[in-house]
Amino acid sequence: MGKAVFIRNAAQLITLKGSSTAPLVKEGMSELGIIKNGSVWVEDGIIQAVGKDEVLFEKFAVRIEQAEVVDATGKLVTPGLVDPHTHLVFAGSRETEFNMRLKGATYMEIMNAGGGIHATTKRTKLATHDELFQESFERLNQFLLHGVTTVEAKSGYGMEWETERKQLEVAKQLNELHPIDVVSTFMGAHAVPKEYKDNPDDFVKLLVKEIIPKVSELRLAEFNDVFCEKGVFTPEQARTILETGKVYGLTAKIHADEIEPFEGAELAAKVGAISADHLLKASEKGLRAMAEKGVVGVLLPGTAYFLMAESANGRHMVDLGVPVALSTDCNPGSSPTVSLPFMMNLACLKMGLTPAEVITAATINAAHAIGRASIIGSLEERKKGDVTIFNVENYMKLQYLYGVNHIDTVIKNGRVVVK
Ligand code: NIG
Ligand code: FE
Repeated sequence: MGKAVFIRNAAQLITLKGSSTAPLVKEGMSELGIIKNGSVWVEDGIIQAVGKDEVLFEKFAVRIEQAEVVDATGKLVTPGLVDPHTHLVFAGSRETEFNMRLKGATYMEIMNAGGGIHATTKRTKLATHDELFQESFERLNQFLLHGVTTVEAKSGYGMEWETERKQLEVAKQLNELHPIDVVSTFMGAHAVPKEYKDNPDDFVKLLVKEIIPKVSELRLAEFNDVFCEKGVFTPEQARTILETGKVYGLTAKIHADEIEPFEGAELAAKVGAISADHLLKASEKGLRAMAEKGVVGVLLPGTAYFLMAESANGRHMVDLGVPVALSTDCNPGSSPTVSLPFMMNLACLKMGLTPAEVITAATINAAHAIGRASIIGSLEERKKGDVTIFNVENYMKLQYLYGVNHIDTVIKNGRVVVK
């Protein structure tokens, strides 16, 4: 048992109180539950009290001397940020492709010529468990320095059992050894391996008959994701993979309508996915179906930015009632970043979200997108002591002063991990 941590007197303490049972939608996304001069008492890794500083000061007066006091005067305090979509565990980097894209090559052209996801797959296959662990551990350190306390991590740079397993085992070990919580998603259906180019259905069979059952048996993942995209997996194939995952206890997620409209959003609603991610080209019908079913739309503004594409219409999604979350999509091809705060700025400028909505999208709604809203995503009693402190006095300023890391302090499970 460590010391209690007493975060005191924030200029704005964003609680997002009362949002744990269902993701926030429409105007609800702007209700941040702000306390001025707010404080939080965290003990045994758990939030014990949240409120006005004078109230908490009185309540814990006799114990303050034994606590680690973090002075948040003049600062912004939020729930620890949650990144609900990353490809965290991979080897190598692809800056040469970045150069090719700047000269006009497209993401899909590079991938179809054997680069892209295939290039990272080659590197990831060759890396040992320890090498992959080390690279990914360092990436997690960077996430922490940007205020993120939980990340989802997908496999998918193997597309055969051994390498998929290695990635998922690395993610599991990272979850155990790094302060950040890592939530695992199996994404064997990330691309069609070259050997199956002419008979992709055989690869789908391999996934559903052999690999998904093994992932489930070894409890290596909670979620199951598919890249449903023209030239990758069709909606029919994606449906087979996601429905099979459900039978094996894996909750469905989907990379939907990223590059071309392909009825991915519709499919997400049909299979009862917890989230549909990307959605740059999602149809109106698909978005309405998502809103109706409460499927979280995970938006990845960094991907559109980095691929020089037009962003998803986040404004329209919020107005339709889709619960919107934000993520980096951290990966070596389409979004090599760990900065969720930069994604928040991009979501304001490129997707029409408001500064209040992006806070919700990067905290409680992101927690809903990975099934963790009962324990993280808001500052409330009995939730995990995951708290991010920014060196700005209000949440609007956080989006306004862009391109700078405003992190002051990060507290994870009630321990100060960045100072
Ligand atoms: O979310 N679209 C598929 N997967 C990733 C990119 C992975 C990569 O290029 O390595 C994405 O954009
Ligand atoms: Fe992705």
